[in-house]
Amino acid sequence: MLRDITPVTVVVGGFFGDEGKGKVAAYLGLKDMPSAAVRTGSINAGHTVSFNGVVWKLRSVPSAFLCRSCRLYIPAGALINLDIFLDEVEKTKCGDRIFVDFNTGVITDEHVFRETTDELMKLIGSTKQGVGAAVSDRVMRKLKLAKEYEVLKNYLRDVALEVNEYADRGGKVLVEGTQGLYLSLYFGTYPYVTSRDTSASGVLSEVGLGPKKVDDVLVVFKSYVTRVGEGPLPNELNPDEVVRLGFSERASVTGRVRRAAPFNMELARKALIINSATQVALTKVDVLFRDARNVREWGKLPVEVRNWVSEVENVLKVPITLIGTGEDVMAMVDLRQDVFGSLRR
Ligand code: IMP
Ligand code: MG
Repeated sequence: MLRDITPVTVVVGGFFGDEGKGKVAAYLGLKDMPSAAVRTGSINAGHTVSFNGVVWKLRSVPSAFLCRSCRLYIPAGALINLDIFLDEVEKTKCGDRIFVDFNTGVITDEHVFRETTDELMKLIGSTKQGVGAAVSDRVMRKLKLAKEYEVLKNYLRDVALEVNEYADRGGKVLVEGTQGLYLSLYFGTYPYVTSRDTSASGVLSEVGLGPKKVDDVLVVFKSYVTRVGEGPLPNELNPDEVVRLGFSERASVTGRVRRAAPFNMELARKALIINSATQVALTKVDVLFRDARNVREWGKLPVEVRNWVSEVENVLKVPITLIGTGEDVMAMVDLRQDVFGSLRR
């Protein structure tokens, strides 16, 4: 059966988070105009969206908010903080088209307090946003859910059912994962991990989308690897090297300096397997190759960039369909038509 390109797509990170999922999801929002965009995970993850000189750092609202016709969803498996959620809704002016599941978890100051005073959280370098404490309350069935808060009344929906309805009707659905595979509670560098499974399956389970509903799993890799907080980072560069190579970054939620290492094929291959990837997005190639900056066509990329991307693709054996060349959402080489054609089996 022939079908339209990527009706239900899940975007996940393949390293330690901060691969550029926010930019990729925002690009897919503007380009594909999905009917629904769902943001999973929680406020420990910050997604940066930079469009026409305006920058948003989002911890709750889906990055595809730029697409004005898109309905935005926070699913049952996600957790919100009321102040952060309401603030972002106002800043992105999406109050009339964003919806929260009745069962979405709510983080309170008490959860933040528990994490800031916890020795193990300090040791692993937690962002201390209260996410892990709230998840543990949820496991113990003590966490308050969105439906218990009057202030959320107008946003409440059965997100799982609504999103499945879009998918069943053939509408495009974009699921935005948060963090990266190696921060997964199950597949990451435990105990230096976050409080959830960050793989595509974990992300889909937070939404209530079954595995058969998904057409594309897009794994995002940055052209180098970064990690914030503690825990192993293979081939970690020393701070001088990080600066020299232009890999210096700061975490968007905590402002901490990110540790860095060169692109890692081994980690990437495993991430593709566990996520059952169908496509790869490679971001920030302009950091490795200055001449790639803001290029939007494959043919206009310098030949050394094209050679490097092809080499990576040959090793990974999954098509690289999106190549990020700058901060702006639209600074992207989009190869999906070339790779798959307009229709796809
Ligand atoms: P927590 O999830 O805030 O407790 O943090 C646990 C570990 O995951 C720490 O090393 C954090 O730096 C890391 N982490 C959590 N969320 C993100 C993210 O969105 N990007 C990068 N690292 C993250
Ligand atoms: Mg981030």
